[in-house]
Amino acid sequence: MGPGPITVDPRVLRAMSAQLVGQYDPAMTAYMNETQALYREVFRTRNEATVLVDGTSRAGIEAALVSLVHPGDRVLVPVFGRFGHLLREIAERCGAEVHVREVPWGEVFTLEAIEQAVREVRPHLVAMVQGDTSTTMNQPLEGVGEVCHRHGALLYVDCTASLGGNAFEMDAWEVDATTAGLQKCLGGPSGSAPLSLSPRAVAVVDGRRSVEAGLRSDDEDAAPAPVRIRSNYFDLGMVLDYWGEKRLNHHTEATTMLYGARECARLLLEEGIGNSIARHRLHGEAVLAGVQALGLEVFGDVVHKMHNVVAVEIPAGVDGDAVRAELLHDYGIEIGTSFGPLAGRVWRIGSMGYNARKDAVLVTLAALEQVLRRHGARVGAGAGCAAAQEVYA
Ligand SMILES: Cc1ncc(COP(=O)(O)O)c(C=O)c1O
Repeated sequence: MGPGPITVDPRVLRAMSAQLVGQYDPAMTAYMNETQALYREVFRTRNEATVLVDGTSRAGIEAALVSLVHPGDRVLVPVFGRFGHLLREIAERCGAEVHVREVPWGEVFTLEAIEQAVREVRPHLVAMVQGDTSTTMNQPLEGVGEVCHRHGALLYVDCTASLGGNAFEMDAWEVDATTAGLQKCLGGPSGSAPLSLSPRAVAVVDGRRSVEAGLRSDDEDAAPAPVRIRSNYFDLGMVLDYWGEKRLNHHTEATTMLYGARECARLLLEEGIGNSIARHRLHGEAVLAGVQALGLEVFGDVVHKMHNVVAVEIPAGVDGDAVRAELLHDYGIEIGTSFGPLAGRVWRIGSMGYNARKDAVLVTLAALEQVLRRHGARVGAGAGCAAAQEVYA
């Protein structure tokens, strides 16, 4: 019940135990095509360029940024938590001229503040996180893509933590590039990063396209693009050629992760994205009501928090790590703390993916109450579960 990774849905585990097939086996290429179609629905996009990057969510971020950003390009990163800093760090490593704007942790940006920064910086790309897991905040994105495009910038969004549990509308919000992971609301393991690029973003990648020597056919230009993408593994031009009709060899697709990613998307779409968001909202509200009834103070702007995770202040005089250890050892329940300025200051309690369930929420609240009491906190008997039950009533 932490901020992810979370308990994997048993259906995903079963899918991942299936036998492997060769990467050009018609069954495998059909799975690849099917997975692309599924993730178009998940991201709510018509983008042809929708694929998996093999690696954890960070691999998807690196692939998007290294492929879209030329050295010297201006990149604007609005930072409201740890994962915004990660975008800044990766963009810097891509050689970008990075401009950062920050709001205090626990807050999000207004559209006006983003537009003001875009006017000042005139970036090639705006890179931002939707749900920053470190603070639990969910940045509203409506209008951001329109602002970027009006000022000639592309918009990249990391929706790893929010996808499936909170609305994400790639096309309607004019997002040019997005990446995610399986280990949060999608109920899978880490290790695969679904990614989608708009035609605008593909045009940028196309300008830097190159085909490896040894793979080129006679009719292809042997000269690589004047500025090649600075990573081979994360070269999205080559990744798209591999997933596209050419099936031009690049890496060997991580078959087992593809089985897992495909099953995560199938689960989400069978439930319905709207229903999944409503389920995450319901259980998130139950956790919120429960921890508040236990007398814990919630961190940050509750109106803008993600549905799937809540951060609570560790009460004065309570040893936060000891409480987490006891929850784990005595009850088999894992919750998290956070990073940087919030490390040791808050606990983060998730209710996402397979764990966004009533029984998981109630057992967690009951266990937390017992552990808090043992650590000297004054909590009303049964208060957390009772408040959560009110939400479910
Ligand atoms: C918003 C966000 N972005 C990126 C990451 C990095 O993901 P990974 O550890 O899978 O590389 C995380 C991980 O928690 C995250 O929450």
